[in-house]
Amino acid sequence: MRSANFLKENNARHLWHPMANAGEMLAHPPKIITASKGVEITDVDGHTVLDAVGGLWNVNLGYSCEPVKKAIRDQLDDLPYYSTFRGTSNAPVIELSFELADFFKPDGLTRSFFTSGGSDSVETALRLARQYHKLKGQPERTKYFALKKGYHGTHFGGASVNGNANFRRAYEPLLPGVFHLPAPFPYRNPFSTTDGVVIAQSIANLFEDEIAFQGADTIAAFIIEPVLGAGGVIVPDESFMPLMRSICDKYGILMIADEVITAFGRTGAWSGSRLWGVQPDMACTAKAITNAYYPFGAVMINEKLTEVFETSKSPLASIGHGYTYSGHPVGAAAALATLAETKRLNVADNAAARGLELMAGLEALKAQHELVGDVRGKGLMCAVELVSDRTKQSAAAKDVVQKVQDVAYAHGVMVRTSGANIILSPPLVITAADVKKIVAALDAGLSGAIG
Ligand SMILES: Cc1ncc(COP(=O)(O)O)c(C=O)c1O
Repeated sequence: MRSANFLKENNARHLWHPMANAGEMLAHPPKIITASKGVEITDVDGHTVLDAVGGLWNVNLGYSCEPVKKAIRDQLDDLPYYSTFRGTSNAPVIELSFELADFFKPDGLTRSFFTSGGSDSVETALRLARQYHKLKGQPERTKYFALKKGYHGTHFGGASVNGNANFRRAYEPLLPGVFHLPAPFPYRNPFSTTDGVVIAQSIANLFEDEIAFQGADTIAAFIIEPVLGAGGVIVPDESFMPLMRSICDKYGILMIADEVITAFGRTGAWSGSRLWGVQPDMACTAKAITNAYYPFGAVMINEKLTEVFETSKSPLASIGHGYTYSGHPVGAAAALATLAETKRLNVADNAAARGLELMAGLEALKAQHELVGDVRGKGLMCAVELVSDRTKQSAAAKDVVQKVQDVAYAHGVMVRTSGANIILSPPLVITAADVKKIVAALDAGLSGAIG
């Protein structure tokens, strides 16, 4: 590694950072992370902090997961790459598809289509949905429904179903034929209520109303995060996803669960769909599938689709979609080792238990700090929404949010900010002591921000 001075001098000079303003990055260069161990990361100046961001919701097993590292090293020696395009396959990807079919069996998902990440998985699911309807003789089913505040990555398809203006405006026009319903968000919604059941039913009513207006036979799919992540950790009422599932069934609309964050235990259940007792038609996964050590993803597919795709004689039945790195053997080997560790450590149970402790800590912070407007979460995905005025629910100023993050960092914990939200998504292997440390650092951050 080059010297710390070299890294600092060249920081953000020759690269544009994702989700950031290039000029701002030059003026305020980002933290340089140089090392990691367990659930901690170390920056270029030698500060070691607990990573309450978990990489980017994806380092579920922490930074020292030796079985995954070994699997990657071994696979690089055996077969560092070969394509899975028509005609060739590889050993780890075959074994992984077998294991994933078993893991997602309770979700009714038995086939995998491999990708290089979350945006790729979303793009794949959106495309397969249209193709499915074409094969079923309903070529007009091309439209998509999605939720405001939903995040589905940044490919043009994903950005089109994305429900946050920040990720859309600069890239418009996006796909035509995409319609957004309100988010199931008790803290902010257009229904003048905080009752999650009423909100769920109101959105379901709007969905049916819009289906009647558009024509069910023009709609391909509805995409939903079981718990909305990047939009501010929005936990719907438990009735919401089942209600939307029943409407999709009634009108022949496919349900795509975007489980890029929620799959593999983060909510305290093995998948977000399972958390709500719903079987989606497809589930997009990525991130924690390799514990973040290798860019990889999988779209999981249910029987409704497999029956059609595997028996159709139509020339359109061939999947004209895929990536050079679909089924990459190193990624597949990493995913196999990650899945085994994920199950062995039973991280879903730990996420549920630590999540309850974390939420209790955040509720206590809300009781103490006027700056906190709302706290919410499920398992180990949580958010603290900062406000300048609780009654008006007006967003806290940018510098106040930044100060909370900076002071928390000085107190040994990395948290992430998104607008006026502090987002927490630590590794699923954190301990009760780690939870206390996160809450204490946030307490210091909230006090420091108004001081
Ligand atoms: C729910 C969801 N879908 C899709 C994506 C996009 O994944 P990626 O950044 O790996 O392309 C993300 C990323 O955070 C996500 O949270």
